[in-house]
Amino acid sequence: MYNSKIIGLGYYVPENVVTNNHLTAFMDTSDEWIQERTGIQERRWIDPKTEDTTAVMGAKASKIAIERAGLTKDDIDFIVFATLSPDMYFPGGGVQVQDILEMPTIGALDVRNQCSGFIYAMSVADQFIKTGMYKNILVIGAENHSGGLEKSTRGRGVTVIFGDGAGAAVLSRTEEKDKGILSSHLHSEGKHAKELVLEGPSTKRWVPEIIAANDAEDQSYFPYMNGQFVFKHAVTRFSEAIVEGLQANNLQKEDIDMLIPHQANLRIAQFIQKKFQLPNENVYNNIMKYGNTTAASVIIALTEAWEKGKIKDNDLVVLAAFGSGFTWGSVIIRW
Ligand code: UT7
Repeated sequence: MYNSKIIGLGYYVPENVVTNNHLTAFMDTSDEWIQERTGIQERRWIDPKTEDTTAVMGAKASKIAIERAGLTKDDIDFIVFATLSPDMYFPGGGVQVQDILEMPTIGALDVRNQCSGFIYAMSVADQFIKTGMYKNILVIGAENHSGGLEKSTRGRGVTVIFGDGAGAAVLSRTEEKDKGILSSHLHSEGKHAKELVLEGPSTKRWVPEIIAANDAEDQSYFPYMNGQFVFKHAVTRFSEAIVEGLQANNLQKEDIDMLIPHQANLRIAQFIQKKFQLPNENVYNNIMKYGNTTAASVIIALTEAWEKGKIKDNDLVVLAAFGSGFTWGSVIIRW
């Protein structure tokens, strides 16, 4: 069995900055409410006049990650692409990145696990490397939320939270023992699927049916979130996933050098930080600048933390996420 190690990281966010005050132009909200409840000050939303899409952003982040890994696109053996906002209903974003980056006809797999998408994607890539099937895997998390949010007061409970962006990692085979990904832990609880959901269009209710109904009250094609319900589950599941990861490796909370929690809400991250009694320098948050970018959030935050020199060789890095599904999980890394 081999181990897998991150050898390249990259992220890309659209240039267009949308502040909380910008949102007040089309919905009844305030900078004060958003900052108090979520910690978010601004987010990036794709300017539709630009070329950016979920796949394009994913490809831009990937280019940086591949270059930093000291590889070329031709060295990549497989792509795992996580998103809840693909450019098309099908095919998925993985094949688009394969095309945009003009890569050989390698396999490309899409992961649909929302906020924990990147954790799932890393775990999948890790297994392929451990068994020896692939050497270098490009793992991407990318989201274009702004194209599908309800930009009116009715949607404010969801719309103010989400942002666009992408991140990518190159996961590579290593012969080093006790280095790289030590373990990953994945969970789901589908009975809560409808608490954080985008129902339509779907094969149950297809586009012509929605158009024919012409129902102004219909919100099924906008994301719905039972915010407080999700919040309560998030704090519990985040903690469980971190504890599970630490226990599996005989580690203590004091061993954590860097916790990168999925950027769902700064208040959730602060709750977790307090629970694990971690000093500020051992947790990285950037939701203030980017909002919640679901499958892209962990990898954007990991990349930023690494770029700022906050992650050093041999550090214990813990990634954890929770979101729609419900799905949640953690990845424990010895850097
Ligand atoms: O990443 C996936 C996982 N997602 C999460 O973990 C998110 C978890 N949930 C949350 O972060 C929080 O529940 C929210 C930030 C989404 C909402 O905060 P909340 O404190 O739970 O607010 P609420 O939904 O209970 O709403 C409180 C009030 C309501 O008004 P009334 O009924 O008390 O008059 C809302 O209508 O705040 C109102 N409200 C807003 N007011 C101004 C909801 N959204 C807004 C808004 N601006 N954007």
